[in-house]
Amino acid sequence: MMTQADRLDTLLTEERRFAPPESFRNQANYRDPEVYERAARDPEAYWAEEAKNLDWFRPFTKILDWNPPHARWFYDGTLNAAYNTVDRHRFGPRKNKAAIIWEGEPGDSRVLTYDMLGREVDRAAHVLKSLGVQKGDRVTIYLPMVPELPIAMLACAKIGAIHSVVFGGFSARALHERILDADAKVLITADGGWRRGNVVPLKRNADEAVQGTPVEKVLVVERVGAAAAAPWTPGRDVSWREAMAAAPATPFPCEEMNAEDILFLLYTSGTTGKPKGIVHSTGGYLVGANTSLRTVFDIKDDDVYFCTADIGWITGHTYIVYGPLSCGATVVMYEGAPDWPDRDRYWQIVEKYGVTIFYTAPTSIRTFMKWGPEYVQRHRIDTLRLLGSVGEPINPEAWMWYHEHVGQGRCPIVDTWWQTETGCAMIAPLPGLVTTKPGSATRPVPGISADVFDEEGQSVPAGSGGYLVITRPWPSMLRTIWRDDERFARTYFGKFPGIYLPGDGAHKDEDNYIWILGRIDDVINVSGHRIGTMEVESALVDHHAVAEAAVIGRSHEVKGQAITAFVTLKEGIAATDELMNELKRHVVEKIGALARPEEIIFIADLPKTRSGKIMRRLLRDIAEGRVLGDTSTLADPSVVESLKEMYKDKE
Ligand code: WT7
Repeated sequence: MMTQADRLDTLLTEERRFAPPESFRNQANYRDPEVYERAARDPEAYWAEEAKNLDWFRPFTKILDWNPPHARWFYDGTLNAAYNTVDRHRFGPRKNKAAIIWEGEPGDSRVLTYDMLGREVDRAAHVLKSLGVQKGDRVTIYLPMVPELPIAMLACAKIGAIHSVVFGGFSARALHERILDADAKVLITADGGWRRGNVVPLKRNADEAVQGTPVEKVLVVERVGAAAAAPWTPGRDVSWREAMAAAPATPFPCEEMNAEDILFLLYTSGTTGKPKGIVHSTGGYLVGANTSLRTVFDIKDDDVYFCTADIGWITGHTYIVYGPLSCGATVVMYEGAPDWPDRDRYWQIVEKYGVTIFYTAPTSIRTFMKWGPEYVQRHRIDTLRLLGSVGEPINPEAWMWYHEHVGQGRCPIVDTWWQTETGCAMIAPLPGLVTTKPGSATRPVPGISADVFDEEGQSVPAGSGGYLVITRPWPSMLRTIWRDDERFARTYFGKFPGIYLPGDGAHKDEDNYIWILGRIDDVINVSGHRIGTMEVESALVDHHAVAEAAVIGRSHEVKGQAITAFVTLKEGIAATDELMNELKRHVVEKIGALARPEEIIFIADLPKTRSGKIMRRLLRDIAEGRVLGDTSTLADPSVVESLKEMYKDKE
């Protein structure tokens, strides 16, 4: 992304408007603006009404208990997430409807109807039980995008175990930390995964990661077969295929869960080096996920819905698994890269399955732009009727390209602002009701109260900017940070009491539309993935050659932001290209490829204020080649000159 100021300049000159096309509005789930008024008048009543779209074992009579920063929703009700996503459809008219259409990267595919999915989930639930997993236990899942991933998640949900999915791109070390923090008993992984025809060595990473953790059993899905040569540890490793075949074919009864029981943990980056285990509830989370599919995504029974995210992120949890399946929708799930075997893979999938709703990230759209429209044009994609964007602010150019070349000027675009912590889309248009403006996520969805505050906690007038805030609790909000409630309270409710602070800057325009400007903390957004600058800095200083490191995000044409690291070396160590590559590899080993610094700049000293704080803004200005602002607070002004020199050498 650009800097917040640059983005604001661009946005303030953006005057294009797109009203919902009449043909779309006429068929939309929501075509009467009354829903906004009704939800604003009594948000709790609105959510209680929406919650009735789920099947409850024991219906709730309580709606909300708000004891800031702790909220409980529907807290005397009981339900099960696997029942709501699978069994209720499986035992009804959707029995033989496709639930998951899976497309493997090498070209293999699999269709699971709701009934087939239900039988797999039942078997997997039996398997987990037989491995000793009890209600409330944590199960870490480290899988590629194969059907076993949602099956494993739903099996956990069925028996009341808490899943913690770790994205397959994370390193062994990152997986190790997350297993330890969650205190997981079982790890579910695969022998490997396919990525651009190469094998991702998941099992080898997993073997390393489980050392010194409480993991007793490693359940291994076979995906790449002979291509992955990973050793087998008898007694600990269990073959998924064999265990599933041996499991009873009988239905597994759903565990009756309280609405507030934890459904899953999902780790995300914050401003310290330690990732946060975001805790989501069963009832509130599912209500949020289910509702937004019907409101923002206008889901219908005959839709074919394709979200390109990986299930290892919250987007995949909510918008591949829990949201669409709770609605009984047909979901397309793709295993691999968008340019494998060629750059038209997504469009080939859209054509093959007749996709109607397509959800992706701005970084992908910018990549498609770079590749050129001919790849889209190779395919018949006129089944599409609605497009979505998520992950970072979308620049108006990318929005327009998406609109013209993928949406054929016809499909509404829903730009959805939300976070791992919010569970579901929070600021986004309802596509049949809201006129969109390229680059704005528009307005809060019904039932959500978002605003922009100044430093004093006052709502800013239209036409100004400040902190994005959520002023009331909502059902799918995180309940806490796993085993760190104090950090939860401080991080999200520490600035304005009782008000949720997401950590984004925002601008409110004359029509009260919200324009997200980007993070205001030490978190950077690389291709829609959140990475804490501190995490990368810790990984760097962990290397014996490094004395100090400062990491910033600089704007990048395709990725939004790219990681630039400024590094000072210990006495007597030479700054060589080999060392630079070694440091990059070191970060990949510590965190994962997604955190690999785009560039590393060796410098003699980091620019610091007199009080010793690293001047990140200055570093960012230098990395982006901008004229420097005020450096009068700098302890040693000569540092800047040498820095500029150094950086010039790198270009
Ligand atoms: C951060 C959350 C939940 C989606 C995947 C990322 C940025 C997300 C948008 C958007 C502007 C966006 C924010 C947010 N972000 N969507 N539509 N417009 N910014 O989830 O890793 O929890 O990151 O992503 O900065 O705080 P996440």
